[in-house]
Parts: sequence; C-alpha cells; structure tokens
Amino acid sequence: MLTDNFGRKFYYLRLSITDVCNFRCSYCLPDGYQCDQKRDFLSVPEIKRIANAFAQMGTEKIRITGGEPSLRKDLPEIIATCKQTPGIKRVAITSNGFKLPEHLPAWLDAGIDAINISIDSLDPRQFNAITGHNKLPHILKGIDMALADGRPSIKVNTVLMREYNGYDIQTYLDWLKDTPVTLRFIELMQTGDNKKFFDAQHVQGSRIRQNLILDGWLPAIRDRSSGPAQEFYHPDYLGRIGLIMPYSKDFCNSCNRLRISSLGKLHLCLFTEQGLSLKEYLQQDDIEPLKAQITAMMTDKQATHFLHENLTGATTNLSMLGG
Ligand code: 5AD
Ligand code: SF4
Repeated sequence: MLTDNFGRKFYYLRLSITDVCNFRCSYCLPDGYQCDQKRDFLSVPEIKRIANAFAQMGTEKIRITGGEPSLRKDLPEIIATCKQTPGIKRVAITSNGFKLPEHLPAWLDAGIDAINISIDSLDPRQFNAITGHNKLPHILKGIDMALADGRPSIKVNTVLMREYNGYDIQTYLDWLKDTPVTLRFIELMQTGDNKKFFDAQHVQGSRIRQNLILDGWLPAIRDRSSGPAQEFYHPDYLGRIGLIMPYSKDFCNSCNRLRISSLGKLHLCLFTEQGLSLKEYLQQDDIEPLKAQITAMMTDKQATHFLHENLTGATTNLSMLGG
C-alpha cells in the first residue's frame, strides 16, 4: 500500500490527460488557454501502465481530469482502460460538461462511475460571464440525461466567489430540493496567476456550513477513497451539499490522493514545486521499476500545503493539474 511519512494512505489517483481547456473561467484561465508549444500528453499505453502500477499499490479510484478531458478524442478508451484495470473499483471524471449530452453515451459505455461537472452559477448570464460560454442550459440538460440513466453518481462543483455565489446560495438550495446530485462548494484557492482575483473574490465556506447546520442539514459519513468534502444531507432535499475548504485547519490530514499531470509527472500535492517526472518509467510494460520509483518519491510528501502563507508552489493555475 502506498503510504507517506505521516501514515496517510493513497486510495485515490487524479490523472490529468490534457491541460488544454476551451473555457475561460475567471479564476483559472481568464484569457483562455494559451498554446505555447506542442505537448506530448500521456498516451493510452502509458495511462494503462500508470493505472496498473497504482492499482497494484492499493489505489482503488481514478479520477480523470484536465484541462478539459473531453477535448481528447480517445477519452472513452481512456475511461475503459482505467475501468478494466484489476483493483480499480471506481472511475470518475471532472469536466466542464460543454458537450455532456453528446458525450454521455460513450462515457457510460466505457464504464464511467461518477461524473463531476463545474457549475459556478445557476444563472445563465453569470455562467457566461464566468466561463466565457453560454452553455448552462446545455450542461443542465446533460445532467438530467445522466440522472435519467441512473448509473453514474453526479456531483456539481461550485467555486465560491464573493460576486457570484459567496453569499446567496438560495438558487442552489431550490435546485437541490428535487435534484439528486451532490453540490460541492469549493473555497477559491490562490494560484500563481490569480492573486488579484483571489483577493477580491475569496470567501470562506465556514459561514455556509454554519447556516446549513442551523437549517437542519446533517453530516454524512466519508468513505476512505472519497474526496476532501465535508458532506451534508437533509430529509427534505434529494440533493446533498459538500464543502471543500482547503484553508480550514487540518484539511490536509485526510489527504488520500496523488496526482499525475498530463505530461507524466507525479505531483505529491496540488501546490508543490515541480512535479516529479515518471515519463522514462512509462515506456515499458514491466511496471515494477515504475512502482519502485513512485514509492521512492513518496518520501518527499509534506504534511500540508503552504497556501496559508500565500505560497502556491509552481501551480500557476489549476488547468495544469485538474484541481
Ligand atoms: N480554486 C478553487 N477551485 C478551482 N477550480 C479550478 N481552479 C480553482 C481555484 N483556483 C475548480 C474547478 C473545477 C475543479 C476541478 O477545480 O472549477 O470544478
Ligand atoms: Fe477550464 Fe476547468 Fe480551468 Fe474552467 S476551471 S478554465 S473549465 S480547466
């Protein structure tokens, strides 16, 4: 089992398959994706070796991220490859959902278990202002289709921003009354590129948490490969609410995930300095050297991030690593 110096176990791998994105979220890529050079993203055989290596070391869940992962034409093949890996119980994806209705059938055929879609506002005009795309109704249609299918679990990510959703979550609560999704409010994180936006827009999730508890929301139980959200449910609501508060005390204690970038680097934390390249170990079918290298790299994993001190490491924005 992959374990670090602090006794944390790594059941969960976040695998970025591209850093290209077609959205321009204000906190991430406000000027859109800038294509500076040709990139060599992980191939399907490389992904297969990564999935096998991690699974053999105890990982049971893989989340495919980007950039926007669905910009890769071979995404269904990637989902199927992860899903068919012995030991991998759940394959999830985080997407902006811009073509969810069109892509959903192929993802389902490939065996997707869970889909996270980012929706930072339920107001179409605000959604457009945040992402640069007038796609909210289309994305919501895709979510309805996924719910009607019934197989994948659906989560919606909402980054808390003062201007859009930081103080008024009523629209979301109304939606959750009859929509069986888990909505996760994520505290805006500072990255190398977004300091000004962060200073203007960051709000804490703790106030929402207090209000939810006052309104009768009850804490749900976490499982060992679940994310860092504190989840709540309410008898009058079909939907659930999660809070992801990376600035809260002890957030890193329950860290159970590692990340691989689309360039094949291991990132021990979302906010470390450079990733550690695994590329040369991904070129052969014998995965023992790859496993040994990952195990050796684990000794560098730190107890926590240093965001409290405004240190964002080498992370200029999260499209590099998919959050
Ligand atoms: N702070 C918080 N969340 C972010 N995301 C992207 N950048 C940031 C940031 N700076 C979110 C996306 C997506 C998830 C993978 O991470 O909105 O939902
Ligand atoms: Fe794209 Fe996600 Fe960044 Fe938005 S947050 S620009 S959808 S990578």
